[in-house]
Amino acid sequence: MCGIVGYIGQKNIKEVLINGLSELEYRGYDSAGIAIMQESNLSIYKSIGKLNNLIDKTKDLKTDKNILRVGIGHTRWATHGKPTELNAHPHIGEFSFVVHNGIIENYKKIKDKLEKNGHKFISQTDTEVIAHLFEYNLEKQSDALKAFQITINELEGAYAILLITKSENNRIFFAKNGSPLIIGYTEDEIYFGSSDAPLVGLANEVTYFNDNEFGVVSIYNNTNSIEIYNKKFEKVDIIKKSLSINKQFAQKGGFRFFMEKEVYEQSRVISETIMGRVKDEKIEFEELNKTLFDNIENITICACGTSFHAGLASSYLFERISKVPTKVEVASEFRYKEPLLNKNTLFIVISQSGETADTLEALKMAKEAGLKTLVICNVDNSSMVRLADFTILTRAGIEKGVASTKAFATQMVVLWMLSLYIANIKKSISKEFLEKELKAILTIPSILKIDNNLHEKLKRLSKRYLHGHGFFFIGRDIFYPLALEGALKLKEISYLHAEGYPAGEMKHGPIALADSELFTIALMPKNILYEKMKSNVEELSARDSTILAISAYEFEIADDFIKIKEQNHYMFEFFEMMIVLQLLAMEIAIRLGNDVDMPRNLAKSVTVE
Ligand code: G6P
Repeated sequence: MCGIVGYIGQKNIKEVLINGLSELEYRGYDSAGIAIMQESNLSIYKSIGKLNNLIDKTKDLKTDKNILRVGIGHTRWATHGKPTELNAHPHIGEFSFVVHNGIIENYKKIKDKLEKNGHKFISQTDTEVIAHLFEYNLEKQSDALKAFQITINELEGAYAILLITKSENNRIFFAKNGSPLIIGYTEDEIYFGSSDAPLVGLANEVTYFNDNEFGVVSIYNNTNSIEIYNKKFEKVDIIKKSLSINKQFAQKGGFRFFMEKEVYEQSRVISETIMGRVKDEKIEFEELNKTLFDNIENITICACGTSFHAGLASSYLFERISKVPTKVEVASEFRYKEPLLNKNTLFIVISQSGETADTLEALKMAKEAGLKTLVICNVDNSSMVRLADFTILTRAGIEKGVASTKAFATQMVVLWMLSLYIANIKKSISKEFLEKELKAILTIPSILKIDNNLHEKLKRLSKRYLHGHGFFFIGRDIFYPLALEGALKLKEISYLHAEGYPAGEMKHGPIALADSELFTIALMPKNILYEKMKSNVEELSARDSTILAISAYEFEIADDFIKIKEQNHYMFEFFEMMIVLQLLAMEIAIRLGNDVDMPRNLAKSVTVE
């Protein structure tokens, strides 16, 4: 998490930095800050909370065009130290400023050493040590780049770092390991960003750094100079890529929140996800090579958060349809369990952003172990896309709401299509079955068109679900991961306690919590285990839990009931229920007065482990 930007050039630097940060605010909004250097005058502005506070604070700052300036900026998701102004980036040594995304794991050791050498620290962050360590090394080693290299070599953990220093007043030092960092340039300007979003429309060419690269950039005589080095201090060739100049602006378009707009967009983005992939009675993934599946005996899926739920749901499809044994792991657990990796495993990672640190590291492990890797991702050119052997893009478009909605929907459709694609290669399904499934997939966009009456009903209903001591979202089969996702949506934006649970497991403990203050949201598809679900819900109702049932069948014992259209495929029910859960969570959060798009303590892209 955290977003960083940097700029050298003659544009209005305040605008460049702040506009860049607004593109990265989804990565954290605990505080924001910028530091600007003009010749050797350094100025710094920081404020806690969202970027608007920094905009207010810098409203009198004039940074007119046509003067060469150097600047860095940061938007923070707190890891070490509370979200206070002192802990906000940029962090300062005596004469150097630094912004950082990641975690310096050995910062305590470095801090102790520096304190013994007279350095004084004012924040609780891990980042502050970078500025001090650089200055400490610079005292011993007058070459600034060499001092920076020694500094970087001493850091353990993940980082994308930008550093500016008074003694080198038209340069930015940078380093990357684990966290994303991109540089963009025109002939006489240099931009940095944690993703390419802040660079679009400004830089026409970009370079994506690899891990363990560092270097320095500057502008002399209106010409840019970029030096990139590897760990051994050898110069690295600069690989330039062009950057599309079409900036995709995300606007709320009349909706109250981006999340609401994104829920409503699901029908359209699913059409795009399917487009060109379902044709001539088969599934085509041009980006895949059929040999990818040669010798594949099983699948392991790794992901985090909502993407993990999509992965878990897809395991039902890979086993039921493709007949391939499938394991699903939370990426942060997978990495440290010393997993037994087998070359006959297809390793799939799922990620909206393509940058989540744990998922990225899991992908690296699988690649190093020689497994075939596939990423299902929404962001082209992201770190995972660049690393994996194969990519399927989900085509959801920019997702701004921190609570993921349309990305999940597109992931589910891709995974469903992939299960059929593999089944077809492995000949584990009949032609008739495939045709029926393809027809069903093509129907999803119309299923996802939101009925106004349904939304109105959920708005009304939401006021009955604002209190109580907790929510259980329950389901069976593929509706169990959907229940997990429903509970996650509610937790993320309403801050109410909610759990997703396999319905059949409630009697092994959680039912002890049942009373009228416990809300049960029951996913009751008519196509999968309806009777079993009914019994599980009756058990909860008998213990006074308040029941909200979502089903195609009327269910008389439910206190509240959301009827979904009678559908003859369980995946239709899945997508309809998904919409109900997203809207319900959103309406509850709105009633509670929360910022639905930027819920407290969360960030959209989590680039620390
Ligand atoms: C964060 C976001 C979640 C997301 C998760 C995984 O926690 O707030 O919405 O599901 O990261 O992100 P990814 O980009 O890898 O799907």
